[in-house]
Amino acid sequence: MLKKEYRKLHCLMSQKVFWLIALSVTGITGLQYFSSRECSLHELYRELYSFPLFIAAMRYGTKGALICLASIYALYLPYMFITWQGSWKQESVRVVELFFYLFLAAWAGYFADREKALKAELEQNRFVTSLGRITSGIVHDLKNPLISIRGLLERLAKGKGDCSRYLPVMLSDTQLMERIVYDVLDFAKPLKLKRKGVDLSAIIENAVRICREKAKKAGVSFDVRLSDISVEADQYLIERALVNIISNAIESLSEVSRLTQKDKKISIKLERHNNSAQITVRDNGKGMDKEIRKHCFEPYFSNKRAGTGLGLAIVKKIIDAHDGRIDIALPDSGGTAFIINLQSLPA
Ligand SMILES: Nc1ncnc2c1ncn2[C@@H]1O[C@H](COP(=O)(O)OP(=O)(O)OP(=O)(O)O)[C@@H](O)[C@H]1O
Ligand SMILES: [Mg+2]
Repeated sequence: MLKKEYRKLHCLMSQKVFWLIALSVTGITGLQYFSSRECSLHELYRELYSFPLFIAAMRYGTKGALICLASIYALYLPYMFITWQGSWKQESVRVVELFFYLFLAAWAGYFADREKALKAELEQNRFVTSLGRITSGIVHDLKNPLISIRGLLERLAKGKGDCSRYLPVMLSDTQLMERIVYDVLDFAKPLKLKRKGVDLSAIIENAVRICREKAKKAGVSFDVRLSDISVEADQYLIERALVNIISNAIESLSEVSRLTQKDKKISIKLERHNNSAQITVRDNGKGMDKEIRKHCFEPYFSNKRAGTGLGLAIVKKIIDAHDGRIDIALPDSGGTAFIINLQSLPA
């Protein structure tokens, strides 16, 4: 949603900047046409041209600056000839100033273009670096379960090992590989939402049910408080987002040794907040420092040995696709709280 708003604002700003330049060039020219040449402000009016010229260069680069300069020349030259005072010597200031504008347009445009090119190069480098990280991340994540399955199959092929013991391991390894592949696919492809009116509390209950086994193994308990709120959403995707957040909370809690089993708690709350359905998933785990909070929604950002770093990137993508909002809060008592706001349907 924010991205969309940003794009709209950007487009609006572009139009505004264009009109600002156009109006100021015509305004400054108008001031000169309608004021006498003897007016003490006359020189100043002419110098004002450097502002729209500079803005055009910064906003649109050399091309924009030259187009702006051409319009200044087109508007100003007729006036200059009308008010020409007979000799080049007398008019040298005005002529030099026009050349100065040409120099200003070329100079500012050059720097603006160079800045843009540097930015584009940086983006490209970032893309290539993250592509490398993504590829090696996927390969690394798929390698472990693959090696495990192959090892077990080799033993079985040699007639060694216990099939009934190996099969569940292989099944869970393939499930892990499946999850990795789906995570990558979900992240790479545009989301197609199948939206319908759904009971949000039922989705949360389902997500908690999916995570219960994992929570049990980590000695984590849930405190779930739900209200009756419906939203227009893709049930599967919202559930998936919640499972990712809850899984992270469980993993965070399992890394904290200071807590006894009964203190490892995830509280999940669903309540109405203004016009939104607000879901809060809060844990009292290790918390997130500023750097992690800054990058955690980026794909392939992970602090875990076996993490793909796609979990929260997918969560963000899902919530954005629902025009919702996700925030991170750090409760005073420690841990982390993820707060999701979705547009709710009327009660
Ligand atoms: N509840 C939490 N408490 C503390 N840190 C968290 C929490 N949730 C996320 N993080 C941090 O954000 C990082 C990114 O999370 P994300 O879910 O995207 O990836 P991951 O959990 O590392 O891997 P996976 O893709 O397998 O979920 C985590 O590695 C962790 O450092
Ligand atoms: Mg995760």
